[in-house]
Amino acid sequence: MKEKIEKLLAEIEGLKASKEQEIEEIRVRLLGKKGSVTRLFDEFRDILPEHKREIGQILNKLKVAASGKIDELRSLIEESEQPADSKYDLTKPGDMISIGGRHPISVTRDEILSIFNKFGYILAEGPEIEDDWHVFGALNFPPEHPARDMQDTFFISNGENPVLLRTHTSSVQVRAMEKMKLPIRIVCPGRVFRNEAISARAHCIFHQVEGLYIDKKVSFADLKQAVLLFAREMFGEDAQIRLRPSYFPFTEPSAEVDVSCNICKGTGCNICKGTGWLEIMGCGMVDPNVLEANGIDSTIYTGFAFGMGIERIAMLKWQVKDLRHYFENDIRFLKEFETVI
Ligand code: PHE
Repeated sequence: MKEKIEKLLAEIEGLKASKEQEIEEIRVRLLGKKGSVTRLFDEFRDILPEHKREIGQILNKLKVAASGKIDELRSLIEESEQPADSKYDLTKPGDMISIGGRHPISVTRDEILSIFNKFGYILAEGPEIEDDWHVFGALNFPPEHPARDMQDTFFISNGENPVLLRTHTSSVQVRAMEKMKLPIRIVCPGRVFRNEAISARAHCIFHQVEGLYIDKKVSFADLKQAVLLFAREMFGEDAQIRLRPSYFPFTEPSAEVDVSCNICKGTGCNICKGTGWLEIMGCGMVDPNVLEANGIDSTIYTGFAFGMGIERIAMLKWQVKDLRHYFENDIRFLKEFETVI
């Protein structure tokens, strides 16, 4: 039997075929029901047990060799059927690999941060889960202030020292005042949470960048200049700003900042609702009560703070009409920014 197998192996080795039909004949001759390899497997059943191991091994080798040879002959035919020069069309464009892009919110955040970084502001970050003191108490919110209300804030636990999700990144400014040496010049980016109904213009989760500058002799004129320079870097060198009086518990005086509409250049369009102005941030001089609550002598130091929503800045920059697009991760929306980014 061993001899038969070896003879067959040698035969298989030298097999040649030029047509598919010939290969099929070879297959039937070797591996078909009555094929020579199949027959050897039948004979194998009657082999003496002490030879089974040795013969079994070479028999398997034979089977592998037979089907390997058939595959080899088949691929040789396939190759020869195509003229060598048409096998690959080197003039065809390649398949583009689709790679992901950066999210427009991340891009806008980094742009805002790099502008302030140029002005000397350093990055500060803090926790999203906060306590009442860092979000409200240290920022001069009176105990009965409505922002603490269940309507606005997501509380994780109630009681004496409630745990809550921060509603603004001003909490990071408090943490900076606690541990940084003066002067302080920081920007605080991050996610914030408010118990709001989700619509085209509001979401219960959004992103902010807030800034804080405390030093001796910091004035409202410095604040105006910082805001103007930021607006020009972000929206174009001919951007104008205007400040409207406003109110925040932690700043006095406070203002709302508008930038001239970058679409119609101030002449009035549907983005700016015909006014020529777009609201971009809140700001003000840090209230002396806030400085004192955080251990800073308000007779020596003054400061200003500002805060903006990243979604809003990105909406204005790219004329996105619905804030919800930023959170839905619809690939068609995100792809629109691949070229911008
Ligand atoms: N913390 C304010 C908000 O979340 C923004 C702000 C920051 C306003 C600093 C004034 C000064 O709306």
